[in-house]
This record gives sequence, C-alpha cells and structure tokens, in this order.
Amino acid sequence: MRTSESAYDRRRLRQWLAGEARADGVSRRDMLRLLAAAGLAGAAPVALGTPAAAAAPGIVKPLPDDRFTVRGTNAETRFAALAGTGYHTPNDRFFVRNHTATPTLSASDWALTVHGDGLTRDRTVDFTLADLRKLPSVTHSAFVECAGNGRSFFTSQQRQPVSGTAWTLGAIGVARWRGVRLADVLGRAGLSRRAVDVLPRGLDADYVTDDGTNLGRVRRPLPLSKALDDVLLAYEMNGEPLPPDHGHPVRVLVPSWIGIASVKWVGDIEVSAEPLYSPWNTDFYRLFGDAYPDEGSAPLTRQTIKSAWELDGQADLRAGVAHRLTGRSWSGAGGVVRVEVSTDSGTTWRAARLHDAPRRDGWVRWSTHWRPPAPGPYTLLARATDTTGRTQPEATVHNTQGYLFDAVVRHPVNAV
Ligand code: MTE
Repeated sequence: MRTSESAYDRRRLRQWLAGEARADGVSRRDMLRLLAAAGLAGAAPVALGTPAAAAAPGIVKPLPDDRFTVRGTNAETRFAALAGTGYHTPNDRFFVRNHTATPTLSASDWALTVHGDGLTRDRTVDFTLADLRKLPSVTHSAFVECAGNGRSFFTSQQRQPVSGTAWTLGAIGVARWRGVRLADVLGRAGLSRRAVDVLPRGLDADYVTDDGTNLGRVRRPLPLSKALDDVLLAYEMNGEPLPPDHGHPVRVLVPSWIGIASVKWVGDIEVSAEPLYSPWNTDFYRLFGDAYPDEGSAPLTRQTIKSAWELDGQADLRAGVAHRLTGRSWSGAGGVVRVEVSTDSGTTWRAARLHDAPRRDGWVRWSTHWRPPAPGPYTLLARATDTTGRTQPEATVHNTQGYLFDAVVRHPVNAV
C-alpha cells in the first residue's frame, strides 16, 4: 500500500511539473512561487512558550484551560485531560484544527455535490444528508492527527527552527466515526473508468496566507485507490451528530492519513480524469529541507509513530510515593505492539503494561508504576514499536515545516 501510494505521488509530482496535472484554483506561477518559498525561503522559528490566547476565534465549543491549550485558530487537547477517559476521545476534549473558522451549517439545507469528468457522462449528482443516511452505514474507530503534531519538539529538543503551530502532542484524538463509504457514494454518482483523483472541498471560508495569497477553500486531492479503500463520509462522532467544530454535518475521514486529508464541512467532491493538485499537497504537507529534494518529498499520506504521557509537562509528583502513570501510543502504519518507558532520562527502560490490543488506525493505552526516589527534576520517556517493527527513534530528520515528528519526547516532571 505504502509503495503504491508513494509511486502515485511521485508520478503526480512529475506530471504537475511537466504541466500535465491541474493545480486546482491556483495559477501555475503561484504554485511554483509557493513551492519555492516553502523549499528555499527557510522557516520562521516557532515561538515556544508564547502565552496561549484566552480563546480561539472561530471555535464554537468551550475550551476550558484544564482541557485545551489555545494556539491561534486551533485548540490542542491537554493529554493530562485524557487520563481515565476511556479509549475514545470525548467530543468535548477533541482537538480542533481550523484554517479559518467553524462555519454554521444547517444539516437540513446541506447537500454534497459530486461532479467532474471522472464521472460517467461528466455528471453532477447531489446527495442530501437524508440520501446519505439511506445508504449502508459503517462505524470505524480512527484517529485524526495533524501532520504537525509534536512540531514544537523540533525546536525544544532538537534546536531546529520550524514554521507552523507549535503543537506539543495533543493534536490527535480517536473517535468512533459513523457514516457511509465514499466508495458507495462515488459508485452511486457513476464512477468512470477514467477517474484518477478525488478532490473533497470544505465549506469554510477561503484560506488567506500571512502574505495575503488567497488559496481558496481547504481541499486536498486523494488518489482514487485510497478513496475507494477505507474512506468515510462521516456524519456521527462518538454516537452524536458531528459537532460544528469537527465538520457538521458531514466530514471526510481518511483513516491513518495526516489530518488535512479528512476535510471537514465537505460541500463538494470533484472526481477527475486528470491528475489534480492543490496547495495542500504541493507547498504544504510535503517535507522540505536539507534532507529533501528542492520540490519537497512526495505529498504526505500516513501518519507516523508517537507516544504521550497523560501528564502535564513539569507536573509535580510526590517523592517516595508509588504513582500509577498512564499514556497512549499510536502509529499510522499499524497497531502499537510494545511500549517501553524510562524514568531516568533513558538510562534504563522497562515494558509498560498495555491495556488495548494493537489496533490499526487507533492507539493503545498503557500504564507503569514509578516511585520517585527523592525530590528533584526527572525526565520521563516512552517509546513505542508498531506491528511493522518500527520503533520511535531518538531524533527526527528535520523538515522546515515541522511535520511527522516521531522521536521519543522528553517529558519533564518534578518530584516534590
Ligand atoms: N477541513 C476544512 N474544511 N478546514 C480545515 O481547516 N483542517 C484540517 C482537517 N480538515 C481543516 C479541515 C486539518 S489540518 C486537520 S488536522 C483536521 O481537519 C482536524 O480535525 P478536527 O478539527 O476535527 O480535530
């Protein structure tokens, strides 16, 4: 799967550079300029330790301080707030990543338009929510995780500048999504044998970059192979209608891929017989930097592997007392089969106890016991291994936009 995805991406990149692929809504000149800017202009350092704003403009749900850290238009889940919450992230604790603001959409007025020359007879077909609900429903537990989750550790652990939201590890949540298979909807719309790409687009406002370039509405092409595999059009999250901030009334859910693929508030889906590009798979969501070609890596697809303690950074723990510490680990490549922890900055490691079987597209909860021997500062580490045998490394190869951080995170605590 991974091989065919990257082969696909490499082919699209060559086609786009050769002028054979369409960069939807953005001129080729702009695309090249943006690509160059992303690859060569370097990156502004992340402002670490900037005090969080009191509220995120454009997010509808309450963001109490004990559950969220607000970062610009986004809200990061505090991992400590997940302790004891069960496998699925409650909707009121699920992180929010908004390019602009949550739109107010009425489910009864909403319709999805499926269109493009990848449909038979180049048709345009509308589906209301009632139409979707008549199709067979599917329920799937899966994480949504931002490609930049963990980005701040490039700076704080590796002393490397990166641009973008300074997430710690809370730009992830796992929910039980219910909806219909995108494959069923495309089948009903009449998929032509010429179709190659599928481009879902959100109904939120146009995204304008800091330098004033209007990139249009959030959209990112998906290869048809993935679209027909396990992608859902989800209308429920953890048994409730999709909340406004998470895509009400319908979002795309692309299991195991970076969060940008899971377009919220989807309004239309273009099915194309020619290869498609948007800024979200050209200048964003590729890896740029010294280790990568000038045009960047292939567009990012699967998420990487990570672990997080359900503790605040610099948490106080009583010395001489046994504590039960908990956390979660996950991987986009498969379930997590082993988690090792260290309470002495990585000198010694032991296995954590896993509380879930390895689950594709999800995480495992784990626990360990620790008695801080004496008051003072300590560094906790957790390191996961997934079903493919991949283990979290000590460092992540740098990329300018700080995507796919997978290294073991150093978690400071104080024994008091
Ligand atoms: N879809 C639209 N329409 N607009 C957005 O800003 N953000 C994307 C994706 N889908 C976004 C979107 C990104 S970058 C992520 S990580 C996920 O939504 C976040 O989903 P959540 O806010 O439900 O956690």
